Amino acid sequence: MEERVEVGPWAAEAFVDYERLLKVFGAKPLTDLEVGKLERLAGESNAMLRRRVFYSHRDLDVYLNMYEAGRRCALYTGRGPSGYTHLGHILPWVFTKWLQDRLGLELFFQMTDDEKFLHEERLDLPESNRFAYENSLDLVALGFDPRKTHIIIDSEDIGYLYSIAVRVAKKITYSTQRATFGFTDSTNVGLVFYPVLQIAVCFLPTELYGEETYVLIPAGIDQDPYWRIARDVAQSLNYPKPSQIHNKLLPGLGPGGKMSSSKPETAVYTTDPPDVAAQKIMKAFTGGQPTVELHRKLGGNPDRCSVFKMYEMLFEEDDVKLSERYWNCRTGSLLCGECKAELASRVWKFLRDFQEKREREKDRLDRYLIRSKFGEPKMRR
Ligand code: TRP
Repeated sequence: MEERVEVGPWAAEAFVDYERLLKVFGAKPLTDLEVGKLERLAGESNAMLRRRVFYSHRDLDVYLNMYEAGRRCALYTGRGPSGYTHLGHILPWVFTKWLQDRLGLELFFQMTDDEKFLHEERLDLPESNRFAYENSLDLVALGFDPRKTHIIIDSEDIGYLYSIAVRVAKKITYSTQRATFGFTDSTNVGLVFYPVLQIAVCFLPTELYGEETYVLIPAGIDQDPYWRIARDVAQSLNYPKPSQIHNKLLPGLGPGGKMSSSKPETAVYTTDPPDVAAQKIMKAFTGGQPTVELHRKLGGNPDRCSVFKMYEMLFEEDDVKLSERYWNCRTGSLLCGECKAELASRVWKFLRDFQEKREREKDRLDRYLIRSKFGEPKMRR
């Protein structure tokens, strides 16, 4: 019996009730067991794991066992390039980079300019393609290793995907596709086909390396429908089932909801001038009281504060400092003005460095593109 939930690849609300999502989607909560094992293999603890910013998974345990046993492993994530990148988008990428660095893994990163063209009325293909390159610079600025990071731009690199995609497509009926993605009679057929391209990348590493390769996908749970199908068809196509690890979404700076391009004043873009980003933060909705007097007396509520969440999820790695901030807010000794000003200054510095690198590396994107490394796509099997 399917329960209705407002989360799918093209309709992700701000999910508040992560527990319920786990139940509906049937993923498993991340436990100390998996976190402990991953941190041991990585040789380092990770704040996003400790704080359960990444909070659920499918077969992460299997993936880690395979990694430990020396089997070939890779990472896969992606982005639908419909506009500029904001901090909510880069959150899972920061974690993905940590995995790449600590575990020495190659990353396949899919830029779905085709998907966004098909889905967004306002977007023409050259525009979504331009955003694919524009957004790729954010991966460069984050410091992904060019030798180990392979960007696939769908509309141009289709040759790497197509022979896998048609095999996947042959296994999926329209009725499954419709039930999984909520298609109707007026959905364009491009969107009906698109999911097999996103699924195809799960199996690409096995084809490219000519060897069974285990793939881990760090992503928001809104992408889960693709992986459920991928896992269903994997074995009959002789590929390992892809594993997933899911992150919570970064809240926007407004009173509710995830950071989203539909509310640009509540989103911090990697391309925002640092001063503009700082101003957005100074105007953020917080868990504070309406007046300083009341705040001093009653304290604030960091659990419902978008500014505190920014510290917790991205801008404060030190657990002791984070907990001090939490209690200083709760007891009213830390005022929202100070707390926001400090975050604004951290974000300001982050953006300054980030944009400097983005600019400096602008003409060196080639090194990241799959086509500059793997040559002419060909069928290996
Ligand atoms: N469909 C995703 C989006 O709209 C883009 C995407 C493609 C992706 N492959 C992925 C996201 C793998 C996460 C993991 O943003």
